[in-house]
Amino acid sequence: MLSRYTQAAVLKAKLVISLEERGMAAKAKKAKGDSSPKGKKSVVSAQLELAPQGAPSKEGGSAAWMGLVPAGQSGVNTTRPRRAASMVAVAAETVAREDPVAVPVPELTPPGPAAKAPKRRATAEQMAQKQREISISEFFTKNRHLLGFDNPSKALLTTIKEAVDNSLDACEEAGILPEIAVEVRDLAWEASRDGDLTKGEGRFVVMVEDNGPGIVKAQVPKIFGKLLYGSKFHRLKQSRGQQGIGISAAAMYGQLTTGSPIRVTSRTGKSKPAHSFDIQIDTRKNNPVVTRDDELAEWHQEHGTRVELEIVASWQQGQRFVNRYVEHTALANPHTTLHYRRPRQEVLTFPRATVELPKEALEIKPHPHGVELGALMLMARESKSHDVKGFLRSAFSRVSPAVADEILAKAALKGRVRPRGLGEDRGLAEKLHKAIGETRIMAPPTNCLSPIGDELMKRGLISFLNVIETEGPEEEAQLDLDHAGKKKATKKEKQARAEAPAVPDAPPEEGVEKIKGHNYFIATVTRPPKVYRGNPFQVEVGLAYGGSWPADKPIELFRFANRVPLLFQRSACGVTEAIVKTDWRNYLLSQPKGSLPVGPMALLVHIASVWVPFTSESKEAVAHYPEIIREIQLAAQECGRRLASHIRKRQHAEYQEQRRGIFELYIEEVAQAIGKITGKSPLPIKREFLRVAEKVTEADLEEQDKKLEEASDKLTQRPRRSEEEAE
Ligand SMILES: Nc1ncnc2c1ncn2[C@@H]1O[C@H](COP(=O)(O)OP(=O)(O)OP(=O)(O)O)[C@@H](O)[C@H]1O
Ligand SMILES: [Mg+2]
Repeated sequence: MLSRYTQAAVLKAKLVISLEERGMAAKAKKAKGDSSPKGKKSVVSAQLELAPQGAPSKEGGSAAWMGLVPAGQSGVNTTRPRRAASMVAVAAETVAREDPVAVPVPELTPPGPAAKAPKRRATAEQMAQKQREISISEFFTKNRHLLGFDNPSKALLTTIKEAVDNSLDACEEAGILPEIAVEVRDLAWEASRDGDLTKGEGRFVVMVEDNGPGIVKAQVPKIFGKLLYGSKFHRLKQSRGQQGIGISAAAMYGQLTTGSPIRVTSRTGKSKPAHSFDIQIDTRKNNPVVTRDDELAEWHQEHGTRVELEIVASWQQGQRFVNRYVEHTALANPHTTLHYRRPRQEVLTFPRATVELPKEALEIKPHPHGVELGALMLMARESKSHDVKGFLRSAFSRVSPAVADEILAKAALKGRVRPRGLGEDRGLAEKLHKAIGETRIMAPPTNCLSPIGDELMKRGLISFLNVIETEGPEEEAQLDLDHAGKKKATKKEKQARAEAPAVPDAPPEEGVEKIKGHNYFIATVTRPPKVYRGNPFQVEVGLAYGGSWPADKPIELFRFANRVPLLFQRSACGVTEAIVKTDWRNYLLSQPKGSLPVGPMALLVHIASVWVPFTSESKEAVAHYPEIIREIQLAAQECGRRLASHIRKRQHAEYQEQRRGIFELYIEEVAQAIGKITGKSPLPIKREFLRVAEKVTEADLEEQDKKLEEASDKLTQRPRRSEEEAE
């Protein structure tokens, strides 16, 4: 309710406005009761001035007072201050036109565009209601490409790979020679049993079975129904898996695309029953939901695990990835027997090339030089040691009592400081961290690594080439999803391949293996272990040259990390960078700038490490650590030297044969003539001529070999600082 005073004022103002509108300024002035001297403020302006910014005056707000607000809003306006402010601005403008000097209301009149400031959409409180935790499974459901499930063809490979990698890890850890069966079934084709296999996307079942140690019943649901659950993440030891996400991610992909649970059957020993589970993942909570749990009366495996997943996949597009993965897994794991069942095809078996298990990789503690400040503080907080010296000795590898004393002396720390105190005092921890960096410490132990080894790499290559020669060459030489679009070789390419200069079969010589009628030169190199960021690693390189590989194509580069083939992201991988950076022209191969060399060769590069630095969770490419790249280059150069020597020997043998042919044409004549002149038998003269000719050409070859070896020795003898320390 307006007061009587206010009602009177409103009436008065209305009268003023109507008189002004009619041009009766004088009357209006009188009505205003304006007897003030010139320059004094008008009533209107005074009212405007009184009105607080954006808020109505005591009398009901300046805008309402002016009669500018629509009916119903003319009362006290407390809810829409911004609107009121704009109305005030309009009123002020009207008045200013009449008496500009008398309306000093700058703070009430924001400039034009600001008047259209965006409307607040939500308050912090409203936003807070929407903020909540995201479970890891929800995250990876949306970001499945990060785990290698980008598309149905790649998903097929990733599912098989995760299961096979786990089987191999489990067998090796338990000390069992792995026998693994991989099976892919086309459900649509099986339902009809005639016609073609599914073209493009369809429902497939992937089955992987091993003869490993099995999994205890209580652990099965968590392993297959919970992301980030595993036994390998927290330890420093070479293994294929490291993240604890692989098989559960495959289960999640299957569930997402087909709604079917993962089926797991496992048995831990002859006297134990086998259990079979159907497991789903509650993605909201990242927890397993067991939908079936049966005890089996019979199971053909004494111990082992079988995993079955129904997934949406593309066999048509994805089979070549799987074929390649299976072949390469057999190549890098010569102790494994692998049976591969494919839809509508014969079972392909890769028998093991050795009955010896790889050397057992032992778990090691972190090396002090690889630890960062935050990690050091966390380790100190969690330490059960009584003092810092004990903490250093128990938490890290290669810290002897003398080394611990040296570190503490450099940090000016007393050995009796409690580790917990160190973990909570950043200043102290920083001093210790700095002292660790300044102390020379022996390189970490390398028994945590299990390289393939020269001999087994060679045997693996031979049995791989045997299978390849039987199966025939693949259409696509290099597997790279970037280029997956162009699948088949063109007619022209095929013709060029057929016309490519065949590598002539050389007579058996050192390093040469005859495989299915083709001669392959094989060389392997295993480098000594080195360290990157405190993590031990070791590089191995093997090459197979000649045989039926095309001579006019870039070489085949097979990348492996902890014996797992890496099939994607070739160009983003540190291994590729190292091979491209190596100058292969030194080793008699042609090499376009910034590319892989060209020649009839397959090059295998294996990096073994306690923690392979992958560029993403899908474990497809190795990060570009300079220490790793350099080691790969050194190994490649050593292999390259042996290759160059082999090529030169062969070239030389051919050249010599040609020359001998020419000489023989004339030597006969010349020897006869000299025999006649000297009266001696021409035979010894001819023999002497031939010997001289051979000697001259051999000398040429030896000289070339010597030069090449000197050049590469220089490169090998230049270790970097980090290596010097590690050694
Ligand atoms: N076939 C199997 N036999 C025995 N244990 C297994 C088998 N498959 C998985 N496991 C156990 O389940 C754990 C989880 O496997 P998962 O593949 O999810 O992770 P990971 O292998 O540890 O790491 P990554 O994510 O890098 O593969 C493994 O660490 C291993 O302990
Ligand atoms: Mg795994």
